[in-house]
Amino acid sequence: EGGADVPLDLAGWRVVVSAGGTREPIDPVRFLGNRSSGRQGVALAAAAARRGAQVTLVAANLAVPAPQGVDVVAVGTAAELREAVRAAAKDADAVVMAAAVADFRPVSPADAKIKKRAGSSAPTIELVETVDVLAELAQDRLRPGQVVVGFAAETGDAQGTVLEHGRTKALRKGADLLVVNAVGDGLGFGTTENDVTILDASGEPVATARGTKDEVAHAVWDAVRSLG
Ligand code: CTP
Ligand code: CA
Repeated sequence: EGGADVPLDLAGWRVVVSAGGTREPIDPVRFLGNRSSGRQGVALAAAAARRGAQVTLVAANLAVPAPQGVDVVAVGTAAELREAVRAAAKDADAVVMAAAVADFRPVSPADAKIKKRAGSSAPTIELVETVDVLAELAQDRLRPGQVVVGFAAETGDAQGTVLEHGRTKALRKGADLLVVNAVGDGLGFGTTENDVTILDASGEPVATARGTKDEVAHAVWDAVRSLG
């Protein structure tokens, strides 16, 4: 992680990073989750701390340890993550949403474990959309001048390239920066190599980075520092 030449260019900054993946309860023993390990968010938090920032890491079900020297707020669900991020963002200079937040949650989790019953059909789980924490932060600007950063893992498909999907998402979210990660072909989830393009609020590329999650993390903070 980083050499002795890492700049202390975030000294005096308060930053919030969300990491990991949320879990939405179905019943007391089951949840709807995702495969996010939290590695990229942990790398972002560690890199910011190295660069001198005071860091709050909002950690959703991390598969890796949180770094030393950061304040950790553990959360489980998208709703808990939203509350923790918004509380910490009130006096933050930058918020980076690296967490994989559930888009949908079960409307009413069962109070008791769902049982199989002879002769009856499989249950249907009704879902409802969660709040888009990133779009809400970009809209509300809880602190004047706060930099809001999102992440998007995209694949190219018949509807468009990775960058076209990224641009559409950047325009929809209203964040200052959107870090677009090309996934598939051994890139992205659960891997150490990443290939990202950082877009501005209008969807224009401002930087690219390829390498470890630590290298990507430093490229993100470089982009944050070069805003404005
Ligand atoms: N995000 C969020 N709240 C949600 C869903 C996503 O804050 N309820 C944030 C993520 O943390 C990430 C960014 O939005 O920084 C993009 O997430 P992504 O899943 O790529 O975008 P969605 O808007 O959910 O679109 P879709 O999953 O349909 O591609
Ligand atoms: Ca999503």
